[in-house]
Amino acid sequence: LAKVEVGIKDIPEGSSISVMWRGKPLFIRHRTQEEIDEANSVDITSLRHPEADSDRVKDPRYLIMIGVCTHLGCIPVGEAGDYGGWFCPCHGSHYDISGRIRKGPAPTNMEIPPYVFVDNNSAVVV
Ligand code: FES
Repeated sequence: LAKVEVGIKDIPEGSSISVMWRGKPLFIRHRTQEEIDEANSVDITSLRHPEADSDRVKDPRYLIMIGVCTHLGCIPVGEAGDYGGWFCPCHGSHYDISGRIRKGPAPTNMEIPPYVFVDNNSAVVV
């Protein structure tokens, strides 16, 4: 099954869920306003893989990304690390609340899959 529909309405603000898609975990986080502000406060020129938060989300409240570390493919842990996002325990990569690599060996940000919002209740990752 290639497509997966995710009920975003059921995710409480400040929480994440994980669902499988094409054999990989997807992380979907309903971010707080504070987290959105934090994601936007970063000077992107300082980033290893410069991407604005606004280029990684369709709705800033919902971060939808592939939960695979871009170093060697481990699954990062949420609400962990030095940047308020995810931490990969395999070799110590720290990702921020936009899933961007901030410290450690991973070369790039966690990947954003193709998706659309079908209504206010769900997103379909294709
Ligand atoms: Fe994540 Fe190496 S696989 S830091």
